[in-house]
Amino acid sequence: MVIKQAKFIGSFPRVSKCPVSELPEYTFIGRSNVGKSSLINMILGRKNIAKVSNTPGKTQMINFFEINKSWNLVDLPGYGYAQLSKKHRASLEKMIKNYMLNRENLSCTFLLIDSRIPLQQADQEFANWLGENQLPFVIVYTKVDKLKGDAKHENIINIKQRLLETWEELPEQFVTSSRKKQGRDHILDFITDINGNK
Ligand code: GTP
Ligand code: MG
Repeated sequence: MVIKQAKFIGSFPRVSKCPVSELPEYTFIGRSNVGKSSLINMILGRKNIAKVSNTPGKTQMINFFEINKSWNLVDLPGYGYAQLSKKHRASLEKMIKNYMLNRENLSCTFLLIDSRIPLQQADQEFANWLGENQLPFVIVYTKVDKLKGDAKHENIINIKQRLLETWEELPEQFVTSSRKKQGRDHILDFITDINGNK
């Protein structure tokens, strides 16, 4: 897929305020700082259409982009950011979950997992929640450029093994680096396939 047009539609505080759309929609979710906004920029081939920051907790709203006038992409805040107050964290989590449960045109969620560290409890819990609510999702390993040599495969294998303790089989998985533009075609092909079947 060639990204001919990527338009920022706006940022919305809750699902009820989000623009009504019949286009297939894809969302990116993961722990704060996992690389959601960077991955979106890499996929769209735009430098800073989604705001990236070294400080976790940068994305606080539901951010909408319309791509090629044919599908929507949604950048969400991260979950599980320890520095936020309990109340703030709970309200972000509620916003994310309400969006996912009530967005009828949501085609698939990309669950981002940091390839450099062991699977975190927050990731496992979020994957389980998606499963319990029958929300289709795929897994994206981020920041693989930071892994060297054997660690590259070993870390991802360990994460998969941990996931397989809960899941009988795993959904489609993508190994990515926004820095090295790795995984872009694979993800865009996947979206093209789903869009085509609508
Ligand atoms: P929140 O919006 O705060 O939840 O964060 P996010 O998940 O959107 O992460 P963001 O894209 O803002 O990136 C967080 C940090 O990780 C930034 O400093 C990025 O430069 C860095 N980063 C993101 N992707 C990669 C990658 O593929 N490789 C490397 N080395 N660093 C990355
Ligand atoms: Mg972000």
